[in-house]
Amino acid sequence: MKYNIKNICCIGAGYVGGPTMSVFAKHCPDIQFNVVDINTERINKWNSQNLKELPIYEPGLDTLIKKCRGKNLHFSTQVEAKIADADMIFISVNTPTKVSGFGAGKASDLKWIDKSSRQISKYGKSGAIVVEKSTLPVKTAQTIEEILNSNNNNKVFKILSNPEFLAEGSAINNLEFPDRVLIGGDDNEAINALIEIYSNWIEIDKILTTDLWSSELSKLISNAFLAQRISSINSISALCEKTGANIKEVSLAVGSDKRIGEYFLEAGPGFGGSCFKKDISNLVYISNYYGLKETASYWQKVIDINNWQSNRISQIIVNTLFGTVSGKRICILGFAFKSNTNDIRESPAISICRDLLEEGALLQIYDPRVEKQKINQELSKFKNHKDKSNGDKYWIILNSIKEATQNCDAIIVITEWNEFKDIVWSEIAPSMRHPSWVFDTRSIIDVKKAKKHGVNVWSVGNGSTNNK
Ligand code: NAD
Ligand code: UDX
Repeated sequence: MKYNIKNICCIGAGYVGGPTMSVFAKHCPDIQFNVVDINTERINKWNSQNLKELPIYEPGLDTLIKKCRGKNLHFSTQVEAKIADADMIFISVNTPTKVSGFGAGKASDLKWIDKSSRQISKYGKSGAIVVEKSTLPVKTAQTIEEILNSNNNNKVFKILSNPEFLAEGSAINNLEFPDRVLIGGDDNEAINALIEIYSNWIEIDKILTTDLWSSELSKLISNAFLAQRISSINSISALCEKTGANIKEVSLAVGSDKRIGEYFLEAGPGFGGSCFKKDISNLVYISNYYGLKETASYWQKVIDINNWQSNRISQIIVNTLFGTVSGKRICILGFAFKSNTNDIRESPAISICRDLLEEGALLQIYDPRVEKQKINQELSKFKNHKDKSNGDKYWIILNSIKEATQNCDAIIVITEWNEFKDIVWSEIAPSMRHPSWVFDTRSIIDVKKAKKHGVNVWSVGNGSTNNK
């Protein structure tokens, strides 16, 4: 059967579904794209006339939405109807780590995949191509296939795996110019239909085709390898601090070897985001399931080092501030898990703030893009720390670096937003309490300038600065 794809439905209007379909819509003006979600609030934001209200912040996304929305790109909650119209259906729903039951804390929770598959089975047209866009444990396509074909309605669906490699903050660029597009499947005509769509803007030699299982597994392994580099460099950042070496110089020297490569060697407060921890946990779970204990414990260590790094930084902060932060005002610069996104999932800011709150600190938080309500919601989970009788708030969220640094004892730089690189110390330092400290978990601030204005500096992996 030769496919003629004219109508595409994407289930899930999140960080992947929204940007991905926007780029598809730009390059495929003859296809109608319907992005559907059960979350009405999210869909309303996608449809907002004020482009500043889009539910996710991603550079370049607003321009694409302006260009395509209402023409060949539509956002709605009409999940069943849009599935019914589609020739191709992308499943782009969330697959977080299970919080209870078998495999809790390790395995992926596939309930949203299960539900979408049942909806497709019931409402989808026979012959439609179903594409796994979500990141899934290897062999999930088999589960989806069983669900799709379990209805006694004689419908037939073809399944492809097409994992997404975009990184938040650079999603549009990654989608426009991917290193590769991966398509797994066993039906050549369905594979060719998807290749045809991508080839509207991507050179054919960048489109790799594999079997389903290799495609599913490659996605998990790509994330595991990336995260492993971060844990490697973070483990060495601690050694630099002890020995007087500088992690930036070590990263440069090591990464200049083409066999190692320069990317993903930046030390920091530990990786965050919705993918790395979840996907490695899943890899550990699968390895254990197949009895591969050594494989499982090797990858588990990547997560352990990540937790150790953020915990280590919290301890350094408290120890440096004379062993107590109780009642001290600590400014938190950045709450997003990385710059250029409003996403806070698994952000290292969460665990560092939790540690400081537990030690009795008062936090003054500023992030240029994260909505205040999201930060409040996250920190409210830690209400159990010591009772505070004077009625002051434990944390306050402010609108600028200037406001957030007022009267603080220390600044913690957690996200590498550009505006934090350019802090004007002559304006900030005089309003801080003395002795003043900045803890730079990203190694981005100008150490000399801060010190010149009387601010002590601790910078991750920077042995020479920290030892002076
Ligand atoms: P997300 O939570 O931002 O979005 C998922 C959306 O799916 C939610 O809005 C949810 O309401 C919706 N949904 C769930 N079940 C539904 C149903 N039955 N019908 C309609 N809508 C439904 O998640 P995300 O960050 O976009 O990630 C989606 C998948 O892509 C995950 O598997 C993730 O691992 C993978 N991934 C994410 C990234 C990333 O950078 N965020 C990158 C690559 C791959
Ligand atoms: C990641 C993968 O990069 C992407 O391919 C996949 O599709 C989804 O997961 P994302 O989590 O959005 O993307 O961002 P990424 O740029 O990978 O950063 C993840 C975390 O690692 C962030 O907290 C970031 O600050 C941190 N990081 C990254 C470092 O600490 N050092 C580095 O050198 C790179």
